[in-house]
Amino acid sequence: MARRKIYPAIYNLFLSGELPEHFAVLAVGRRNKIDEVFRSEAADAIRKFSRVNPGDNRALETLVSRFYYYRADFTQYQGYEKIAALMESLNEKYGTEGNHIYYLAVAPEHFGSIVQNLARSGLADQTNGYKRVVIEKPFGKDLKSAVELNNIITQVFHEDQIFRIDHFLGKEMLQNITVIRFANAFFEPVWNNKFIDHVQITSSEVIGVENRGEYYEKSGAMRDMMQNHMLQLLMLTAMEPPVSLNTNDIRDEKVKVLRSINQIEPKNVNKNVVRGQYTEGYISGKWVPGYRAEDRVSPYSLTETYMAMKVGIENFRWAGVPFYLRTGKRLPVKTTKILVQFRPLPGVIYYKEFSNLESNRIIIEVQPREGVIIRFNGKKPGTRNEIIPVELDFCQNCAVGEVSPDAYERLLLDVMKGNSTLFTRWDEVEHAWRLMDNISKGWQMQPPVIPSYPAGTWGPAESDELLKMDNRKWINP
Ligand code: BG6
Repeated sequence: MARRKIYPAIYNLFLSGELPEHFAVLAVGRRNKIDEVFRSEAADAIRKFSRVNPGDNRALETLVSRFYYYRADFTQYQGYEKIAALMESLNEKYGTEGNHIYYLAVAPEHFGSIVQNLARSGLADQTNGYKRVVIEKPFGKDLKSAVELNNIITQVFHEDQIFRIDHFLGKEMLQNITVIRFANAFFEPVWNNKFIDHVQITSSEVIGVENRGEYYEKSGAMRDMMQNHMLQLLMLTAMEPPVSLNTNDIRDEKVKVLRSINQIEPKNVNKNVVRGQYTEGYISGKWVPGYRAEDRVSPYSLTETYMAMKVGIENFRWAGVPFYLRTGKRLPVKTTKILVQFRPLPGVIYYKEFSNLESNRIIIEVQPREGVIIRFNGKKPGTRNEIIPVELDFCQNCAVGEVSPDAYERLLLDVMKGNSTLFTRWDEVEHAWRLMDNISKGWQMQPPVIPSYPAGTWGPAESDELLKMDNRKWINP
């Protein structure tokens, strides 16, 4: 995490001049190493993973000269007093005035004890400088554990000091969803159940679980993607316009979406939710192993690597419009998109004469392509009266050399500025778990089998059935 995302993000912020002048990094880890070794490892990681290629070694060296390392077992209190002393000396040296950001890039089971130890050692005290804590997902593994964790953290930090990361919120196009919806005249008037038939939200990945088998076995697609990233996409697509762009006004509207979702009763889970696990298969002509054969995965695992669900939002805008969400690993392509399918027009004139006319569609492409496609009907040029679907296609990152900043750059900068709009508020987490807990309960009531899908396909057959029941089908990229 730190190597792939955090150090490269710090470097890119440094290059673009957005990092404050008074700045230093103290990494705490269990391995024994001196500062110089840590600096050279961090520099290597930046060279490997940075968005902007560090051609200029001088900038990289200047940055990592501010990186320090301290060896400690962060589960034990002993090291924290020394960390406090080190932070104090860095404050003096770099003029950081006691402003600290604690980034917990550790396994989730350690979040609570680290926060308690920070408090005990005085590191959470805001008398001199702000103290903020960044917490990676997953925030708990169900509602109960999330509540417990939140209780521990809020005994030490106020909500405005807590930054629960959902890195999807740092993606350019997620921030663009509300701009598209609320800064234009022609989307919002049709963005409701009078015009929209249904919405499909897809986040597919080609990669498997890589070297994260141990973590993934406990999390599965539900806790890894659905509870957080997918629901964020849903909230931004479905929310009402906020009163203002203030953090809490936006979050208030987002959370209302979750509160309006029809709870899926455990006994009805199969009517609304599908899970699956990949078996061996071919992706781009290359053979890949099945999930159960991955490193640190049980050969009898029932963990889902694919999940699809249908949710209904019971409010004035959306009643009757199903939202279909799906995410999975080892699918044919890496893509995240929101597809808004409009209702057909009444069966008169063209819709009467041309029986196979498609209804309109808007696709918000989140990644890797970032843009919006509007699909509508037009006359095919020629003497024959033919109507065909045509597309208005806006792509914001297609020009050569256009690379949007990584989500972590934006998010880290926001933590420094104290802006938590793009982070998850506690009640979002709470409502998201409530929804997921019902699904897990439903799954626990079922026989211990899980539908499978060969790697390189679009998930188990059950997933197609989910839409077929409603006379619809997934529209694959
Ligand atoms: C992470 C998940 O939060 O998001 C990973 O833990 C997943 O399993 C990743 O691969 C996807 O993020 P992105 O930015 O690559 O789409």
